[in-house]
Amino acid sequence: MKSFEELRKEIESFQIENAEALEAFRLQFLSKKSDIQSMFNEIRNIPAEERKQFGQLVNEIKNFANKRFEEFKASYDQQAEVKTAVADITRPDTQVSVGAMHPISIMMDQVRRIFEDIGFTTVTGPDIEDDWHVFTALNFPEEHPARDMQDTFFIELHPDILLRTHTSSLQVRTMEAQKPPIRVICPGRVFRNEAITSRAHCIFHQVEGLYIAENVSFADMKQTLLYFAQRMFGPDVRIRLRPSYFPFTEPSAEMDISCYICGGEGCNLCKHTGWVEILGCGMVDPNVLENCGIDSKKYSGFAFGLGIERMTMLKYKTNDIRLYFENDVRFLEQFKAATK
Ligand code: DAH
Repeated sequence: MKSFEELRKEIESFQIENAEALEAFRLQFLSKKSDIQSMFNEIRNIPAEERKQFGQLVNEIKNFANKRFEEFKASYDQQAEVKTAVADITRPDTQVSVGAMHPISIMMDQVRRIFEDIGFTTVTGPDIEDDWHVFTALNFPEEHPARDMQDTFFIELHPDILLRTHTSSLQVRTMEAQKPPIRVICPGRVFRNEAITSRAHCIFHQVEGLYIAENVSFADMKQTLLYFAQRMFGPDVRIRLRPSYFPFTEPSAEMDISCYICGGEGCNLCKHTGWVEILGCGMVDPNVLENCGIDSKKYSGFAFGLGIERMTMLKYKTNDIRLYFENDVRFLEQFKAATK
Protein backbone atom coordinates (compact mmCIF):
# COMPACT_ATOMS: atom_id res chain seq x y z
CA MET A 1 0.00 0.00 0.00
CA LYS A 2 1.17 3.50 -0.85
CA SER A 3 1.86 5.87 1.99
CA PHE A 4 -0.36 8.93 2.50
CA GLU A 5 2.57 11.12 1.63
CA GLU A 6 3.15 9.36 -1.72
CA LEU A 7 -0.50 9.58 -2.59
CA ARG A 8 -0.70 13.26 -1.77
CA LYS A 9 2.31 13.98 -4.00
CA GLU A 10 0.80 11.98 -6.87
CA ILE A 11 -2.45 13.90 -6.60
CA GLU A 12 -0.64 17.21 -6.48
CA SER A 13 1.57 16.54 -9.49
CA PHE A 14 -1.17 15.11 -11.70
CA GLN A 15 -1.56 17.35 -14.77
CA ILE A 16 -5.01 17.64 -16.26
CA GLU A 17 -5.27 19.29 -19.65
CA ASN A 18 -8.16 17.55 -21.30
CA ALA A 19 -11.21 15.40 -20.72
CA GLU A 20 -9.25 12.10 -20.90
CA ALA A 21 -6.80 13.20 -18.24
CA LEU A 22 -9.69 14.26 -16.05
CA GLU A 23 -11.21 10.78 -16.38
CA ALA A 24 -7.82 9.16 -15.70
CA PHE A 25 -7.56 11.19 -12.52
CA ARG A 26 -11.01 10.07 -11.43
CA LEU A 27 -10.20 6.41 -12.08
CA GLN A 28 -6.86 6.57 -10.31
CA PHE A 29 -7.94 8.40 -7.18
CA LEU A 30 -11.69 8.38 -6.81
CA SER A 31 -13.07 5.15 -8.33
CA LYS A 32 -13.89 1.92 -6.52
CA LYS A 33 -10.56 0.46 -7.64
CA SER A 34 -8.47 3.40 -6.55
CA ASP A 35 -5.72 3.31 -3.92
CA ILE A 36 -7.79 5.54 -1.72
CA GLN A 37 -10.71 3.11 -1.85
CA SER A 38 -8.42 0.20 -0.91
CA MET A 39 -7.31 2.26 2.09
CA PHE A 40 -10.92 2.53 3.14
CA ASN A 41 -11.26 -1.24 2.83
CA GLU A 42 -8.15 -1.58 4.96
CA ILE A 43 -9.60 0.36 7.90
CA ARG A 44 -11.20 -2.69 9.53
CA ASN A 45 -7.79 -4.51 9.63
CA ILE A 46 -6.10 -1.68 11.49
CA PRO A 47 -5.58 -2.25 15.26
CA ALA A 48 -8.39 -0.56 17.19
CA GLU A 49 -6.19 2.05 18.87
CA GLU A 50 -4.84 3.34 15.51
CA ARG A 51 -8.08 2.98 13.58
CA LYS A 52 -9.49 6.40 14.34
CA GLN A 53 -6.36 8.27 13.25
CA PHE A 54 -5.96 6.12 10.14
CA GLY A 55 -9.60 6.71 9.18
CA GLN A 56 -9.13 10.44 9.55
CA LEU A 57 -6.08 10.42 7.27
CA VAL A 58 -7.89 8.38 4.60
CA ASN A 59 -10.78 10.81 4.73
CA GLU A 60 -8.44 13.78 4.44
CA ILE A 61 -6.71 12.37 1.38
CA LYS A 62 -10.03 11.52 -0.22
CA ASN A 63 -11.31 15.06 0.34
CA PHE A 64 -8.09 16.41 -1.08
CA ALA A 65 -8.45 14.32 -4.26
CA ASN A 66 -12.10 15.34 -4.55
CA LYS A 67 -11.22 19.00 -4.24
CA ARG A 68 -8.55 18.73 -6.96
CA PHE A 69 -11.02 16.92 -9.19
CA GLU A 70 -13.68 19.65 -8.80
CA GLU A 71 -11.14 22.41 -9.41
CA PHE A 72 -9.84 20.79 -12.57
CA LYS A 73 -13.33 20.14 -13.78
CA ALA A 74 -14.42 23.72 -13.23
CA SER A 75 -11.43 25.19 -15.06
CA TYR A 76 -11.74 22.61 -17.82
CA ASP A 77 -15.45 23.43 -18.30
CA GLN A 78 -14.61 27.11 -18.50
CA GLN A 79 -11.89 26.55 -21.12
CA ALA A 80 -14.23 24.37 -23.14
CA GLU A 81 -16.82 27.12 -23.11
CA VAL A 82 -14.32 29.72 -24.35
CA LYS A 83 -13.12 27.37 -27.04
CA THR A 84 -16.57 26.79 -28.48
CA ALA A 85 -17.37 30.50 -28.32
CA VAL A 86 -14.25 31.38 -30.27
CA ALA A 87 -14.79 28.56 -32.68
CA ASP A 88 -18.37 29.42 -33.58
CA ILE A 89 -17.72 32.13 -36.11
CA THR A 90 -21.12 31.58 -37.69
CA ARG A 91 -23.03 33.04 -34.75
CA PRO A 92 -24.58 36.44 -35.56
CA ASP A 93 -22.73 39.19 -33.65
CA THR A 94 -24.34 41.32 -31.00
CA GLN A 95 -25.43 44.61 -32.49
CA VAL A 96 -23.94 47.44 -30.47
CA SER A 97 -25.42 50.77 -31.33
CA VAL A 98 -22.60 53.32 -31.40
CA GLY A 99 -23.63 56.92 -30.91
CA ALA A 100 -22.22 59.96 -32.64
CA MET A 101 -20.85 63.16 -31.20
CA HIS A 102 -23.11 66.15 -31.68
CA PRO A 103 -21.96 68.23 -34.68
CA ILE A 104 -21.62 71.31 -32.48
CA SER A 105 -19.23 69.43 -30.17
CA ILE A 106 -17.30 68.10 -33.16
CA MET A 107 -16.84 71.62 -34.51
CA MET A 108 -15.92 73.12 -31.11
CA ASP A 109 -13.27 70.43 -30.67
CA GLN A 110 -11.88 71.07 -34.14
CA VAL A 111 -11.59 74.82 -33.59
CA ARG A 112 -10.04 74.25 -30.21
CA ARG A 113 -7.50 71.77 -31.50
CA ILE A 114 -6.33 74.09 -34.28
CA PHE A 115 -5.66 76.91 -31.83
CA GLU A 116 -4.17 74.64 -29.19
CA ASP A 117 -1.61 73.56 -31.78
CA ILE A 118 -0.31 77.13 -31.91
CA GLY A 119 -0.15 77.68 -28.17
CA PHE A 120 -3.64 78.78 -27.17
CA THR A 121 -5.17 77.29 -24.02
CA THR A 122 -8.86 76.66 -23.51
CA VAL A 123 -10.78 78.62 -20.89
CA THR A 124 -14.46 78.34 -19.99
CA GLY A 125 -16.73 80.44 -17.80
CA PRO A 126 -20.29 81.04 -16.58
CA ASP A 127 -23.35 81.23 -18.86
CA ILE A 128 -25.06 83.45 -16.28
CA GLU A 129 -23.09 86.66 -16.19
CA ASP A 130 -23.22 90.21 -14.90
CA ASP A 131 -23.36 93.48 -16.80
CA TRP A 132 -19.69 94.25 -16.12
CA HIS A 133 -18.26 91.17 -17.84
CA VAL A 134 -20.65 91.17 -20.81
CA PHE A 135 -20.95 94.90 -21.51
CA THR A 136 -19.32 97.53 -19.30
CA ALA A 137 -15.76 96.21 -19.19
CA LEU A 138 -16.00 95.62 -22.94
CA ASN A 139 -16.56 99.31 -23.56
CA PHE A 140 -20.26 99.11 -24.43
CA PRO A 141 -21.78 102.57 -23.97
CA GLU A 142 -24.81 102.90 -21.64
CA GLU A 143 -27.24 103.31 -24.52
CA HIS A 144 -25.91 100.44 -26.69
CA PRO A 145 -28.81 98.45 -28.22
CA ALA A 146 -27.37 95.10 -27.02
CA ARG A 147 -28.28 96.23 -23.50
CA ASP A 148 -31.87 96.45 -24.60
CA MET A 149 -34.38 94.02 -23.09
CA GLN A 150 -35.38 93.17 -26.65
CA ASP A 151 -32.00 91.60 -27.35
CA THR A 152 -30.75 90.23 -24.07
CA PHE A 153 -32.28 87.91 -21.45
CA PHE A 154 -32.16 89.83 -18.19
CA ILE A 155 -33.49 88.70 -14.86
CA GLU A 156 -36.36 90.94 -13.82
CA LEU A 157 -35.56 90.89 -10.13
CA HIS A 158 -31.89 91.72 -10.65
CA PRO A 159 -31.09 93.96 -13.61
CA ASP A 160 -27.37 93.30 -13.23
CA ILE A 161 -27.70 89.57 -13.95
CA LEU A 162 -28.14 88.28 -17.51
CA LEU A 163 -27.47 85.35 -19.81
CA ARG A 164 -24.28 86.13 -21.70
CA THR A 165 -24.91 87.29 -25.25
CA HIS A 166 -21.37 86.46 -26.36
CA THR A 167 -18.30 84.65 -25.07
CA SER A 168 -16.35 87.94 -25.12
CA SER A 169 -17.14 88.09 -21.38
CA LEU A 170 -14.38 85.49 -21.07
CA GLN A 171 -11.86 87.99 -22.45
CA VAL A 172 -12.59 90.12 -19.42
CA ARG A 173 -12.50 87.22 -16.96
CA THR A 174 -9.20 86.00 -18.41
CA MET A 175 -7.50 89.40 -18.38
CA GLU A 176 -8.68 90.02 -14.82
CA ALA A 177 -7.19 86.70 -13.73
CA GLN A 178 -3.99 86.41 -15.79
CA LYS A 179 -1.04 88.58 -16.66
CA PRO A 180 0.19 88.88 -20.29
CA PRO A 181 1.29 87.11 -22.35
CA ILE A 182 -2.22 85.68 -22.71
CA ARG A 183 -3.29 83.26 -25.43
CA VAL A 184 -6.70 81.74 -24.83
CA ILE A 185 -9.56 80.22 -26.70
CA CYS A 186 -12.99 80.30 -25.03
CA PRO A 187 -15.80 78.06 -26.29
CA GLY A 188 -19.28 78.36 -24.85
CA ARG A 189 -23.04 78.70 -25.10
CA VAL A 190 -24.58 82.15 -25.63
CA PHE A 191 -28.14 83.47 -25.47
CA ARG A 192 -30.03 86.14 -27.35
CA ASN A 193 -33.65 87.16 -27.23
CA GLU A 194 -34.36 86.27 -30.85
CA ALA A 195 -37.19 84.55 -32.65
CA ILE A 196 -36.23 81.06 -33.78
CA THR A 197 -35.94 80.71 -37.55
CA SER A 198 -33.90 78.57 -39.90
CA ARG A 199 -30.97 80.99 -39.52
CA ALA A 200 -31.29 82.26 -35.92
CA HIS A 201 -31.81 80.69 -32.53
CA CYS A 202 -32.09 82.07 -29.00
CA ILE A 203 -29.27 79.71 -27.94
CA PHE A 204 -26.12 79.14 -29.92
CA HIS A 205 -22.39 78.60 -29.43
CA GLN A 206 -19.36 80.80 -29.93
CA VAL A 207 -15.62 80.50 -29.64
CA GLU A 208 -13.78 83.59 -28.54
CA GLY A 209 -10.03 84.04 -29.00
CA LEU A 210 -7.70 86.46 -27.26
CA TYR A 211 -4.00 87.15 -27.64
CA ILE A 212 -2.32 89.82 -25.50
CA ALA A 213 1.43 90.43 -25.34
CA GLU A 214 3.98 93.14 -26.16
CA ASN A 215 4.02 94.33 -29.77
CA VAL A 216 1.12 92.27 -31.04
CA SER A 217 0.04 93.72 -34.38
CA PHE A 218 -2.85 93.56 -36.83
CA ALA A 219 -0.54 91.50 -39.09
CA ASP A 220 -0.20 88.88 -36.31
CA MET A 221 -3.97 88.68 -36.16
CA LYS A 222 -4.32 88.30 -39.90
CA GLN A 223 -1.71 85.54 -40.08
CA THR A 224 -3.26 83.66 -37.15
CA LEU A 225 -6.71 83.80 -38.69
CA LEU A 226 -5.41 82.75 -42.11
CA TYR A 227 -3.74 79.75 -40.50
CA PHE A 228 -7.02 78.87 -38.81
CA ALA A 229 -9.11 79.27 -41.98
CA GLN A 230 -6.77 77.09 -44.02
CA ARG A 231 -6.67 74.34 -41.44
CA MET A 232 -10.43 74.39 -41.10
CA PHE A 233 -11.47 74.75 -44.74
CA GLY A 234 -8.46 73.65 -46.78
CA PRO A 235 -5.04 75.00 -47.84
CA ASP A 236 -6.36 76.94 -50.84
CA VAL A 237 -8.73 79.10 -48.82
CA ARG A 238 -8.08 82.87 -48.93
CA ILE A 239 -9.33 85.38 -46.38
CA ARG A 240 -10.38 89.01 -46.55
CA LEU A 241 -10.92 91.49 -43.74
CA ARG A 242 -13.65 94.11 -44.08
CA PRO A 243 -13.74 97.13 -41.76
CA SER A 244 -16.44 96.81 -39.11
CA TYR A 245 -17.39 98.03 -35.66
CA PHE A 246 -17.33 96.39 -32.22
CA PRO A 247 -17.19 98.45 -29.01
CA PHE A 248 -14.31 96.32 -27.64
CA THR A 249 -11.94 96.42 -30.61
CA GLU A 250 -10.31 99.24 -32.53
CA PRO A 251 -9.89 98.79 -35.43
CA SER A 252 -12.49 96.05 -35.96
CA ALA A 253 -13.11 93.77 -38.90
CA GLU A 254 -15.33 91.02 -40.25
CA MET A 255 -13.46 88.14 -41.79
CA ASP A 256 -14.65 86.34 -44.91
CA ILE A 257 -13.19 83.23 -46.45
CA SER A 258 -13.15 82.56 -50.17
CA CYS A 259 -16.07 80.25 -50.88
CA TYR A 260 -14.71 76.72 -50.51
CA ILE A 261 -17.57 75.29 -52.55
CA CYS A 262 -17.07 77.26 -55.75
CA GLY A 263 -13.54 78.47 -55.03
CA GLY A 264 -14.69 82.09 -55.44
CA GLU A 265 -16.53 81.71 -58.74
CA GLY A 266 -19.93 82.33 -57.20
CA CYS A 267 -22.57 79.81 -56.05
CA ASN A 268 -25.65 79.47 -53.84
CA LEU A 269 -23.67 79.16 -50.63
CA CYS A 270 -21.78 82.44 -51.12
CA LYS A 271 -24.81 84.07 -52.75
CA HIS A 272 -22.70 84.55 -55.86
CA THR A 273 -20.22 86.85 -54.13
CA GLY A 274 -17.37 84.34 -53.89
CA TRP A 275 -16.96 85.12 -50.15
CA VAL A 276 -18.50 83.76 -46.93
CA GLU A 277 -18.38 85.66 -43.63
CA ILE A 278 -17.12 83.56 -40.73
CA LEU A 279 -16.03 85.75 -37.82
CA GLY A 280 -15.58 89.15 -36.19
CA CYS A 281 -12.20 90.36 -34.97
CA GLY A 282 -10.05 93.34 -34.12
CA MET A 283 -7.31 94.86 -31.98
CA VAL A 284 -8.43 94.97 -28.35
CA ASP A 285 -9.48 98.53 -27.48
CA PRO A 286 -7.05 100.14 -24.96
CA ASN A 287 -10.06 101.01 -22.78
CA VAL A 288 -10.83 97.32 -22.43
CA LEU A 289 -7.22 96.52 -21.45
CA GLU A 290 -7.31 99.27 -18.80
CA ASN A 291 -10.74 98.12 -17.51
CA CYS A 292 -9.17 94.72 -16.89
CA GLY A 293 -6.04 96.07 -15.21
CA ILE A 294 -3.63 95.65 -18.14
CA ASP A 295 -1.25 98.48 -19.08
CA SER A 296 -2.37 99.53 -22.57
CA LYS A 297 0.91 101.41 -23.18
CA LYS A 298 2.92 98.25 -22.74
CA TYR A 299 0.60 95.60 -24.14
CA SER A 300 -1.55 95.19 -27.21
CA GLY A 301 -3.50 92.29 -28.60
CA PHE A 302 -6.20 90.97 -30.83
CA ALA A 303 -9.47 89.18 -30.28
CA PHE A 304 -11.94 87.34 -32.42
CA GLY A 305 -15.26 85.61 -32.06
CA LEU A 306 -16.91 83.04 -34.26
CA GLY A 307 -20.30 81.33 -34.30
CA ILE A 308 -20.06 77.56 -34.12
CA GLU A 309 -23.50 76.83 -35.63
CA ARG A 310 -22.63 79.00 -38.60
CA MET A 311 -19.29 77.24 -39.10
CA THR A 312 -20.98 73.86 -38.77
CA MET A 313 -23.67 74.80 -41.27
CA LEU A 314 -20.97 75.88 -43.71
CA LYS A 315 -18.75 72.89 -43.19
CA TYR A 316 -21.47 70.22 -43.25
CA LYS A 317 -23.71 72.08 -45.69
CA THR A 318 -26.88 72.12 -43.61
CA ASN A 319 -29.38 74.89 -44.11
CA ASP A 320 -31.44 75.00 -40.92
CA ILE A 321 -29.99 75.92 -37.53
CA ARG A 322 -32.93 74.27 -35.76
CA LEU A 323 -31.59 70.84 -36.70
CA TYR A 324 -28.82 71.32 -34.14
CA PHE A 325 -31.29 71.68 -31.30
CA GLU A 326 -34.02 69.21 -32.19
CA ASN A 327 -31.71 66.23 -31.64
CA ASP A 328 -33.44 64.02 -34.16
CA VAL A 329 -31.29 60.87 -34.26
CA ARG A 330 -31.72 60.61 -38.04
CA PHE A 331 -29.82 63.90 -38.31
CA LEU A 332 -27.28 63.20 -35.55
CA GLU A 333 -26.45 59.69 -36.81
CA GLN A 334 -24.98 61.22 -39.94
CA PHE A 335 -22.08 62.53 -37.87
CA LYS A 336 -20.82 59.08 -36.85
CA ALA A 337 -18.02 59.22 -39.37
CA ALA A 338 -16.83 62.57 -38.04
CA THR A 339 -16.91 61.36 -34.41
CA LYS A 340 -13.40 60.70 -33.11
N1 DAH B 1 -18.65 89.27 -29.57
C1 DAH B 1 -18.93 89.41 -30.99
C2 DAH B 1 -20.33 88.92 -31.28
O1 DAH B 1 -20.90 88.25 -30.48
C3 DAH B 1 -17.94 88.63 -31.79
C4 DAH B 1 -16.59 89.25 -31.73
C5 DAH B 1 -16.23 90.20 -32.63
C6 DAH B 1 -15.71 88.87 -30.75
C7 DAH B 1 -15.00 90.81 -32.59
C8 DAH B 1 -14.45 89.48 -30.70
C9 DAH B 1 -14.12 90.45 -31.64
O2 DAH B 1 -13.53 89.17 -29.79
O3 DAH B 1 -12.89 91.01 -31.58
O4 DAH B 1 -20.84 89.17 -32.33
